[in-house]
Amino acid sequence: MKHIKIFDTTLRDGEQAPGCSMNLKEKVEVAKALERLNVDIIEAGFAISSKGDFESVKTVAEIIQNCSVASLARAVPKDIDAAYEAVKNAVAPRLHIFLATSPIHMQYKLKMSPEQVLENIEAMTKYAKKYIDDVEFSAEDAMRSEPEFLAKAIAVAIKAGAKTINIPDTVGYSNPKEMAERITYLRKVVPETKDITLSVHCHNDLGMGVANSLAAVEAGALQVECTVNGLGERAGNAALEEIVMAINTRKNLYGGETRIKTNELYRASKLVYSIIGMRAPINKAIVGENAFAHEAGIHQHGVLANRETYEIMTPESIGIPSNYMVFGKHSGRHAIENRLKELGHNLSSEEMTVFFKSFKDLADKKKKINDADLEALIGHKVKVSQANEYKLDRFTVNSGNYVTSNAIVRLNYNGKMLEEVAIGDGPIDAAFKAVDKIVKAPPHSLDDYNIQSVGEGKDALGEVFLRIRCGDEIVTGRGLSTDIIEASIIAYINGVTKLL
Ligand code: KIV
Ligand code: ZN
Repeated sequence: MKHIKIFDTTLRDGEQAPGCSMNLKEKVEVAKALERLNVDIIEAGFAISSKGDFESVKTVAEIIQNCSVASLARAVPKDIDAAYEAVKNAVAPRLHIFLATSPIHMQYKLKMSPEQVLENIEAMTKYAKKYIDDVEFSAEDAMRSEPEFLAKAIAVAIKAGAKTINIPDTVGYSNPKEMAERITYLRKVVPETKDITLSVHCHNDLGMGVANSLAAVEAGALQVECTVNGLGERAGNAALEEIVMAINTRKNLYGGETRIKTNELYRASKLVYSIIGMRAPINKAIVGENAFAHEAGIHQHGVLANRETYEIMTPESIGIPSNYMVFGKHSGRHAIENRLKELGHNLSSEEMTVFFKSFKDLADKKKKINDADLEALIGHKVKVSQANEYKLDRFTVNSGNYVTSNAIVRLNYNGKMLEEVAIGDGPIDAAFKAVDKIVKAPPHSLDDYNIQSVGEGKDALGEVFLRIRCGDEIVTGRGLSTDIIEASIIAYINGVTKLL
């Protein structure tokens, strides 16, 4: 079976989508999850694009041990220099350079003739090769490029030393038939492609990102570029978990295998959703809440008789725990630690101490704590306290249909108690205004506010995700509590302090 490489670009193409930005700590968490998944390449960012991106690519490159780490670079020396500086300490560094080859991009964006584009591809691939052998070239907007010109461009890149050639469907324009034909054509007219890895990178504008990627694999592509949960510009990129499970479930059809540890997929997906402050759509393939639920009686009957009647893959294969446990206030640290390990979370002793305290706090308010609660607590509460952090100490809200809502909020900042009072349109607005008076972040507005319960029952935890806009920047905040106003205030503090 051939090995189909998974090139994950959650931290680059995914992270550059509005509302999906991550801080350094979150990027490192995602990179570690990708390493656990066993992806072949992590594209950690676009080093030249900002100081923050440079730092995060460098940090990820230095931490990750089991896969390649790449940085994106335009086909210009200063980008390639920065990308090299950022990835050079990786165990297996890669430089990923790109230049557009479609008529519309060459004429209007690059203002370059086709000849200049070919010269540039040659010169910049050679330039990158001076640093590192593992150079990837992407022909941006390949699927709207003239096939003959695209073939010339990739032949030039291969001759100049590119080891991977990527064919992006940058604007999600293609369909599976066309994609397969394009890969087949390129393999035929550029025989040198047999000495390199041919890759695809499909956007999802017409909802065909995954289908196009798989069609390319059928036609001989050996690398797929994708993102966890399909994050990415506009409608996103092809979703990693869908591609991997399709290849895994239909091995014979695709004639290949990835090296992904599929039982890490669910956890990686949850982590990424919780960082960007979203939940999987309920019917999302592979990781949505209903992906393995059988409601119709006829289906349930079939599954009870033989799971394979309606199940083409098992929940366990993507890491959804098979047994279900309930804990309460008498549960001990050891039992909780064991269950967390079974759920795939190995906490350090310091983190476990923080976690266990929040578990006990929750157990005082909620009788039965199940796996969903543990997972939610993990996503929110394992952070060991750091200096210069605002933490909610206490709050009071007063609201009703005949009073102006008001809130008193007290935050703890490095041991100093800071208290403010504010009025607002409802208790949440009043509480957020009180937080604003304390935190004093740059001007911002609340773009989105979302509250959902974790699990069932009147004492269920409330989980709040919100988005805050500050100019062009969007940050997310999340909070968890059995009290929805408290969850909201925690989420707001979490988001707004990211603007500082
Ligand atoms: O979509 C695209 O074309 C890209 C390239 C930079 C690979 O993201
Ligand atoms: Zn892209």
